[in-house]
Amino acid sequence: MQKKRILSGMRPTGKLHIGHYVGALENWIKLQDDYQSFHLIADYHVLTTDLNTDDIYQNSIEMLIDWLSTGLDPVKSPMFRQSQIKEHTELHLILSMLITVNRLERNPTLKDQMRDLHIEHVIYGHLGYPVLQTADILLYKGNFVPVGEDQVPHVEISREIARRFNNHYGKVFPEPEPLLTKFARLPGLDGNAKMSKSLNNTILLSDDSDTVKAKLKKAVTDPQKIRKGDPGRPEVCLIFSYHKKFNPEEVPDIEANCKSGALGCVDCKMNCASNISALLQPIIEKRNYYEKHLDEVKDILNDGETRARVDAQKTMIEVREKMKLG
Ligand code: TRP
Repeated sequence: MQKKRILSGMRPTGKLHIGHYVGALENWIKLQDDYQSFHLIADYHVLTTDLNTDDIYQNSIEMLIDWLSTGLDPVKSPMFRQSQIKEHTELHLILSMLITVNRLERNPTLKDQMRDLHIEHVIYGHLGYPVLQTADILLYKGNFVPVGEDQVPHVEISREIARRFNNHYGKVFPEPEPLLTKFARLPGLDGNAKMSKSLNNTILLSDDSDTVKAKLKKAVTDPQKIRKGDPGRPEVCLIFSYHKKFNPEEVPDIEANCKSGALGCVDCKMNCASNISALLQPIIEKRNYYEKHLDEVKDILNDGETRARVDAQKTMIEVREKMKLG
């Protein structure tokens, strides 16, 4: 039996952080054996909020190195840039005829972005973000899309567009379904609900142990626990939420000793830092390898793009036939 297909993608914004690992990569790695995965570097999507393309190539390479270093296997799953496979733009144009402006304006992810980035007048391409994303998914006939909550509205739009195409021209596409990542978002070092580069509150996958220690030292904890001996409230503490993820065995002890006051924040943070670094150590070693073997990284990208292109072209032949544009 043929494996079901997964289309997973990220915008290349540079080096990835542990929030990406927890929220996405860990899941992608688990899924790569049971599904045929396609890993997309969504470089065109970056343009929707940033027209400066000076760093886009370098950022794509950095992200690819992080993907490889965490354990995604390029032999099992092609890794490729959206911009290098022209079929994305071709299918995007066709799909853009199958959805109304009104529907796209109701996209809650767009509304959030407009608010967060203070965008008053949205550009045409940004409005069409989910249409391009739909092309990314449908071009490879993706059955599932591993995403966090915020991307679910986009996948819903993809389902509508797939349905409309199939009804109108004949069945080509599966209706893709979201595969929700189980672990909730990792909060940032400043206590913000989201770890994010633009908020400058991240621990990078490439941070060495001294950097992780220094960053955790500055992180916020329970503001009512001022010195060792004060009873703490683990449920409001950022560091405790990291322990839950990166140090699950010690969680009952840490909880008890924080509450009683026996455990001070500095010790607790340093313990947390060493657990995070234990996870990062093998990733950093692989990263060092790839940084020294950039030709290998470029070959992986080249190979991924060649393989992805074959599938993309196959789909477009089918699309054109159904549309009598052959
Ligand atoms: N919108 C996704 C994000 O910001 C990135 C993305 C682009 C994507 N195309 C995709 C994700 C296709 C899944 C499938 O996270």
